[in-house]
Amino acid sequence: MSRLEQDLQQLERGTEPLSGGDVAGWTDLLTTKVEKHFASGTQRMRAPEETLAAVRPHLGAMGITRIANITGLDRIGLPVVLVCRPNSRSLSTSVGKGLDLVNASVSGVMESIELHHGEHVMQPLLLASAADLLASGRRTVDVSRLPRVRNGRYHSNLPLLWVEGFDLLGRQPVWLPFETVHASALSEAPTGSGCFTATSNGLASGNHLLEAMVHAMLEVIERDAASLWSAGGAAHRADTAVDLDSIADPACRDVINRCRAAGILPTVHDIGSDIGVPAYLCEIREAGHWQTTPVFSGLGCHFEPRIALLRAVTEAAQSRLVLIAGSRDDLSRRDYAATGHPPPDRANRPFPREVVDVSRRTFNEDVADLAARLQRIGIDEAIAIDLTSTRYGIPVVRMVIPGLEGPDDDPEYVPGSRALAFRECLS
Ligand SMILES: Nc1ncnc2c1ncn2[C@@H]1O[C@H](COP(=O)(O)OP(=O)(O)OP(=O)(O)O)[C@@H](O)[C@H]1O
Ligand SMILES: [Mg+2]
Repeated sequence: MSRLEQDLQQLERGTEPLSGGDVAGWTDLLTTKVEKHFASGTQRMRAPEETLAAVRPHLGAMGITRIANITGLDRIGLPVVLVCRPNSRSLSTSVGKGLDLVNASVSGVMESIELHHGEHVMQPLLLASAADLLASGRRTVDVSRLPRVRNGRYHSNLPLLWVEGFDLLGRQPVWLPFETVHASALSEAPTGSGCFTATSNGLASGNHLLEAMVHAMLEVIERDAASLWSAGGAAHRADTAVDLDSIADPACRDVINRCRAAGILPTVHDIGSDIGVPAYLCEIREAGHWQTTPVFSGLGCHFEPRIALLRAVTEAAQSRLVLIAGSRDDLSRRDYAATGHPPPDRANRPFPREVVDVSRRTFNEDVADLAARLQRIGIDEAIAIDLTSTRYGIPVVRMVIPGLEGPDDDPEYVPGSRALAFRECLS
């Protein structure tokens, strides 16, 4: 094949969704070297201005009507942007954060785009029970390792909708319950819903499918880490508080100081799990008023501890602004009631001193690194579903990693075996 033909195939691959059964296509993708050309608070294939310019022509068709800079509604000053999609089938408001306004805008717009795709899945679906699929020779995900809902109705003879994904670890196609993949919250749920948790965990967009996959995998690892941290109990949580004076990175120090200068007290917990990817949880409180005001938190997970921390702090600032702006569909009166819990009384854990830099690594190397880490802790499936729409050509993926914990802030969450084992080993 000539170089031109290869390039054309590559371009095509950027717009056509890969079906789960296209083993050659996924194998090709996983060896495609996609370099990072932007690394400031995040790592991306191109600069945020270029991403915005590429997706802007499609915003109207996806129902995105407004990008609003709401930074000035709070006094911290870390950039936060609201993105409105009024006719959505889930959240009509997405939120973006970043170290500057353009990064915050891209993060909000790309989140709205990822949700739009999650609400309009175009991959073919099968209506069958797990037993039927098995009898027809199709491989299904290990459903016993998927996050379940309380009083779930799943059994192996229940007819439900399935979508085909590709398992990066077993390098084979695998069928997944559609409920774990789509992101539509319409009250008339698809056949066979009500078995597994339906969240946006692991849904991500990006400049390239591999870039989106890295973001999605890190998100699933982050939420698993946060659920384990909560399950660990009060003494464990207190032990994980990070000594903020041990942070040397100038950008990290800057976001922390911005909070402090605004009279906001940031505290940070090292929630990293046995997977070994740095993960942090940042809480921010009104200094002197934490008993009577809500505590806001943010999560961050990245190979580079400094990026993980920056993401956690900027997400905490974003959570505060979401409440101030008041326009999210999922807010309730309860969110405005005081929920103050005290800051940790000690913070001994040092922030890593050595600088980790993976900005020269390609995205497929990042995916391979994450896959190897998952296998090391006994995870044997990490399933990707390409949700890219031929209409827009913007890469969107859903990653499902059975065996990791789902987000415990979901009202339907029930601790899985990993959280129960973690709690057990700490007690
Ligand atoms: N510079 C960028 N270029 C392309 N896509 C981006 C960029 N920044 C963020 N995204 C995408 O935007 C979406 C939101 O990412 P972001 O990091 O802002 O939030 P998040 O941590 O996923 O938030 P949440 O915890 O609310 O899901 C993701 O799909 C991400 O891949
Ligand atoms: Mg996300």
